[in-house]
Amino acid sequence: MKRVTTFVGSARKKGTYNAVCQFLKDLQLLGEVEFEIIPLSDYRLGTCRGCQLCFDKGEEFCPLKDDRDMLIDKIMASDGVVFASPNYSFQVSAIMKIFLDRLGFVFHRPRFFGKTFTSIIAQGIYGGGKIVRYLDFVGNGLGFNTVKGSCVTALQPMTEKEKEKIDKVLARQSRRFYERLVNPTYPVPTLFRLMAFRMARTSIRLELDENSRDYAYYKDKGWFESDYYYPTRLGALKKAAGSLFDSIQTKRTRSRHS
Ligand SMILES: Cc1cc2nc3c(=O)[nH]c(=O)nc-3n(C[C@H](O)[C@H](O)[C@H](O)COP(=O)(O)O)c2cc1C
Repeated sequence: MKRVTTFVGSARKKGTYNAVCQFLKDLQLLGEVEFEIIPLSDYRLGTCRGCQLCFDKGEEFCPLKDDRDMLIDKIMASDGVVFASPNYSFQVSAIMKIFLDRLGFVFHRPRFFGKTFTSIIAQGIYGGGKIVRYLDFVGNGLGFNTVKGSCVTALQPMTEKEKEKIDKVLARQSRRFYERLVNPTYPVPTLFRLMAFRMARTSIRLELDENSRDYAYYKDKGWFESDYYYPTRLGALKKAAGSLFDSIQTKRTRSRHS
């Protein structure tokens, strides 16, 4: 049995919620899946004040006392995660963005490796493709194994033709997602993701002191010595690229301080 948690950034049960329900229905036709739908507006989520205590000292020092940790526990207990939002003014909804900001420290200390992720955007007319790419990028940054998301478009009330098109898009997405959910992988990183890891860890090693939370996290995970966040087989080219990224970032960091 696989567990999927869906975070919904709309306060009403309409376009986004219906798309999520259709996606989950399709998923359950493919195999044994249990799910939970989390309407973010039903939870207490404070607006980040930008103090950065979570980055520097640790997330438990955040002055906001809200449901952040409960929601993170739900992610940790899941095999698959979906972030779904309406397109509001060419971006995710405000409540979804507040949630993403509450997860900001996880970009510094990624942790959702091996969990499958995807995104769903519901919109009236235009602009959702970019939001899907944004959310998929966010998923990667948090450590998830990301399956390409979808954007569904319809003005209300939806026509039969629009509904058919949306159902097809969601059925395809659920198949992609299910494949990954039942075969969880720790993929060999792309060059971009390898670069992001190697440059971040070089900065952390050279710029932060041992008491900083990011430094302690990287040390604890063995990331100062590893090729990547998790064991993976880098080919000769990526090994060489990794060393190059280490030395470029070392030079950049030293020149910042000279
Ligand atoms: C404040 C607001 C901003 C919106 N901005 C856009 C937009 O930029 N592009 C678009 O195609 N639809 C936009 N819409 C339409 C919604 O994306 C669309 O109605 C969507 O289905 C709403 O999702 P929901 O039914 O889950 O609330 C906007 C709607 C609202 C309320």
